[in-house]
Amino acid sequence: MIRLRVWANAQPMGWFGHEAAQYFFQYDEQWIKDEAAFPLAPQFELRLEPHRGDAIKTFFANLLPEGTPLDEVLNQIQLRDANTFEIIGEMGADLPGVLSVLPEGKEPDTQQKYSELSKEELSQRVQARAQKKPLLTSNEQTRMSLAGAQDKVGLRYDGKRDRLYDSVGGSPTTHIAKPDSRLEKYQPSAINEYLCMKLAHEMRLSVPRVDLIQVPETLYVVERYDRAVVKGEIVCLHQIDACQLLGVGADWKYERQGGLVSLKKIVDAFRGLMLSGKDLLSVQRWVMFNYLIGNSDAHAKNISLMVNSQGYELAPFYDLLCVQAYGDNDLALFIGDESTYDAVGSHSWEAFCEDCGFGFKPTMRQFRKMAEDIGKSWDKTVATAISQHQINESEKALVERIGAVIDANSKAALSMTAA
Ligand SMILES: Nc1ncnc2c1ncn2[C@@H]1O[C@H](COP(=O)(O)OP(=O)(O)OP(=O)(O)O)[C@@H](O)[C@H]1O
Ligand SMILES: [Mg+2]
Repeated sequence: MIRLRVWANAQPMGWFGHEAAQYFFQYDEQWIKDEAAFPLAPQFELRLEPHRGDAIKTFFANLLPEGTPLDEVLNQIQLRDANTFEIIGEMGADLPGVLSVLPEGKEPDTQQKYSELSKEELSQRVQARAQKKPLLTSNEQTRMSLAGAQDKVGLRYDGKRDRLYDSVGGSPTTHIAKPDSRLEKYQPSAINEYLCMKLAHEMRLSVPRVDLIQVPETLYVVERYDRAVVKGEIVCLHQIDACQLLGVGADWKYERQGGLVSLKKIVDAFRGLMLSGKDLLSVQRWVMFNYLIGNSDAHAKNISLMVNSQGYELAPFYDLLCVQAYGDNDLALFIGDESTYDAVGSHSWEAFCEDCGFGFKPTMRQFRKMAEDIGKSWDKTVATAISQHQINESEKALVERIGAVIDANSKAALSMTAA
């Protein structure tokens, strides 16, 4: 039997291990007895008997990056062909949500430490991606993992002083920084995510604070909603994404990959966890907002829940981008039965409401209102961003394209919702 210690902040939560050709997770007795205890995910109820099998592996694998960033990280830390257990063992000091996974016998540092990170150094790290040096492992003073297929790194950002800090020795990061995509097709991307998140805020969707920094490479910086400050210390909060909730791996995050995830499945699962009516309405608005901004990449790892001893709440929204501006028209999660933008019509929204148990008429009223408002909100968002940041020519061109996508989608929405 081999096992790793799973921590929730400074408290031992359980063991992640491998025994008799099976993965397992076992809660600590102390954890179960604690009034403030919460489960890893709803399917892993709080009990002393270990949870076994592939579901455990899937849960932890969902905390790792995907695709090229994962391959490059494994190369960098010389772990090619490693299994989920070994990778989590290496990268688990600072994980998405509350979790920190360390070798048996090693305790998390009680002193939180950070060292200043100059913009020059960050710029070099961004450039080093061209030599396949991943951003995620670019801070040599700690190890961390963040999910997703884009390059990113956890750090601290003091927006008031415009200063950046590296985490030292597993201290929790409070922000995530994402440079422009390395794929030419998706360039530039940082400005896209920054503006779409600002637009979401303008339209009163719940989103964390975001910034745009230029080192001089542009990076999008988002505050981590899975961190809070309590008595001057950073405390981590538990979150799970919809893949973890539905018990499926990141490979299945798109509905077209076999239909393991869908808006119906996600909303049904949310209802099963007694999510508030307000949160369910937010999910509905998330779907409509994504449609309007051309975010066809809103897959099952792009929506999450916060978990605590009181239950489950919708996490703020993240990873909002207009990917239609790069020519992507296939919907990550279908609207009704439709898998592409062009096929979506009022029948799709009717099916969406039916699938998710939403009233059709009030949903369409909400959709129409959003479609009416979004153009003005976009113009305002762009004007503010231009007054605060130096936007280069390719960024300006992209902003134009996003504006055109929003215009076309909101017109389509207005015609779909016409009385
Ligand atoms: N502000 C945030 N606070 C806490 N966790 C976050 C935040 N933003 C993202 N995350 C977590 O990190 C994961 C990766 O983030 P994000 O979706 O932005 O990455 P990505 O690489 O662009 O994803 P994709 O693979 O969809 O392109 C998310 O699935 C979410 O769990
Ligand atoms: Mg994502």
